[in-house]
Amino acid sequence: MGYSDVYASWQKDPEAFWMQAAEAIDWDRKPTRALDDSNAPLYEWFTDGMVNTCWNAVDRHVEQGRGEQAAIIYDSPITHTKREISFVELRNRVATLAGALRAKGVEKGDRVIIYMPMIPETLEAMLACARIGAVHSVVFGGFASNELAVRIDDCTPKAIIAASCGLEPGRVVHYKPLLDGAIDLATHKPDFCVIFQREQEVAELTPGRDVNWHGFQYGVEPAECVPVEGSHPAYILYTSGTTGQPKGVVRATGGHLVALNWTMKNHYNVDPGDVFWAASDVGWVVGHSYICYGPLIHGNTTVVFEGKPVGTPDAGTFWRVISEHKVRSFFTAPTAFRAIKREDPKGEYVKKYDLSCLRALYLAGERGDPDTINWAKNILGVPVIDHWWQTELGYPAVGNPMGIELLPVKVGSPSVAMPGYDFKVLDDEGKELPAGELGALVTPLPLPPGTFPTLWNAEARFRKSYLDHFPGYYETGDAGMVDEDGYVWIMARTDDVINVAGHRLSTGGMEEVLANHPDVAECAVIGVKDDLKGQLPVGFLCLTTGVNRPHDEIVKEVVTMVRDAIGPVAAFKLAVVVDRLPKTRSGKILRATMVKIADSEDYKLPATIDDPAILDEIKVALQGIGYAK
Ligand code: COA
Ligand code: AMP
Repeated sequence: MGYSDVYASWQKDPEAFWMQAAEAIDWDRKPTRALDDSNAPLYEWFTDGMVNTCWNAVDRHVEQGRGEQAAIIYDSPITHTKREISFVELRNRVATLAGALRAKGVEKGDRVIIYMPMIPETLEAMLACARIGAVHSVVFGGFASNELAVRIDDCTPKAIIAASCGLEPGRVVHYKPLLDGAIDLATHKPDFCVIFQREQEVAELTPGRDVNWHGFQYGVEPAECVPVEGSHPAYILYTSGTTGQPKGVVRATGGHLVALNWTMKNHYNVDPGDVFWAASDVGWVVGHSYICYGPLIHGNTTVVFEGKPVGTPDAGTFWRVISEHKVRSFFTAPTAFRAIKREDPKGEYVKKYDLSCLRALYLAGERGDPDTINWAKNILGVPVIDHWWQTELGYPAVGNPMGIELLPVKVGSPSVAMPGYDFKVLDDEGKELPAGELGALVTPLPLPPGTFPTLWNAEARFRKSYLDHFPGYYETGDAGMVDEDGYVWIMARTDDVINVAGHRLSTGGMEEVLANHPDVAECAVIGVKDDLKGQLPVGFLCLTTGVNRPHDEIVKEVVTMVRDAIGPVAAFKLAVVVDRLPKTRSGKILRATMVKIADSEDYKLPATIDDPAILDEIKVALQGIGYAK
């Protein structure tokens, strides 16, 4: 069957399609139906099935004879460590950790925050939660205390599992003080924290609250897998929205298992036993789906890589890892390739390694620019597959399903809709636009299994953000078009979310921080084009009347404030002081026009602009920092 047959079979009978995909999962009680539409327009999947994620990701492979196969390969050029963990070892470690969590009172439905770097123990912590039906929420290590505190208050965890430190090239990230700071800031307090002490930095434990990862597992009864309902939340993952309050994307267990398993062969073209590598971080959705769950559920070996595409130690690291561990399919963000291309434009490092094991490169997380895609294709000599998805959706919604059929590639487009989706482009009034016209990208409800049924504690926000604007559809938040061959083209976000080095960030959240500076009366943050990271945030500050301190001092202070409040990952390093911000007559800041000016693009003078002269002032300010040429 080719792609069009597979897609047609989903279109003809989605229920049968997903029930068939569900056959590949081990259920404690098989679901009698796939879709539960009793609460439409909110939908759930496999609600009457009973299942356990950890069983499917770990134990069943041991039962089926894969016990000795490596489940995880840990490769850390930063610590010069390489280590393999077999499925049997993983099962034993996870069962004991789960038993220890249970012994301290963590039960099905309790939330557990995980604040850990790229080490195998992070995956073990996630799987241990899944084993006992606890709901994990992994927080990316590049976020600071305040962001962690917001998540603690929102999901009210019973426990937090953290490492003593993370390691960035040339810098130790001291997790423990960040964790302590977050717990101080948060209103909700966890019952206890588990600290994994890394050799590189041993943290001081807080008596009465913190337990040592190894110590608290001593003598406990290993936990068995607890079956949960298909609709039981597997995890909550926070992602950026328009404001500083992140959105808690909920992932339900049954659909997550079914959909991820389906993608491993159909998208990534790997068979059980093959090595799959996603060079991302477990703190993002790519890490959840394709470092931890997807490959393990499907019986693949996953690579946990603690390093960067360049500098650890050089621009050949990716090729070393691929050749050494025989990676079949490799997934990363285009920004990683831009970083490599910048250091090794001719691809000299590639020639040092035997990459004959590699069958395809997959790119997502941000727009795959044609230069990067063509360069990657030339140096690697394998298909480069751009595919599009979001934290909300959990796995590719637009792609080129190589495991079914490699469709003709149109460079710059992530290709076509996958089963479960039927993308349309609407204008502001909700009218469908013809092929090739740019508008809001939407897909009809229900979303397929493995996506998100709602936002944690925020059903009203879920409806408002995704469902209300275009009734009957899911609003992606991206602007794009669908061409006459059904290829989807993603052009930009329709909200104030920006994408920096494949990381999704909220300019609104940064504005909230800047506004807290005592000398700042008003501010705006926009994302400007950047050759390496895709976009970079730039802040505009209007000072309170009467403030005459040097501007560079104030800029330095706000840069530190954003780093302290959001974290280094915000990559907020540029700000300018301006007298006024361009606004419409009704007072709305014209951010989109400012972006065009910064990127040296043509723009139309907005009809509703209050005072066009301000745009010239903005241009001059941007030129002062190397933009708006
Ligand atoms: N913990 C703590 N800090 C982190 C971190 C983590 N897990 N990840 C990144 N940071 C820090 C970085 O050290 C950097 O700090 P600095 O300002 O002190 O230099 C800052 O956050 C910005 O990080 P980043 O934007 O990633 O830039 P970089 O210069 O460190 O690296 C790339 C640039 C392109 C090499 C890097 O972004 C990369 O490898 N990207 C791959 C994209 C990716 O994995 N995306 C995930 C979605 S698929
Ligand atoms: P995240 O939720 O962090 O995965 O970010 C999702 C957003 O990243 C999408 O809404 C897009 O704006 C952008 N994005 C992800 N993948 C792609 C892609 N392949 N092409 C263009 N944009 C992408």
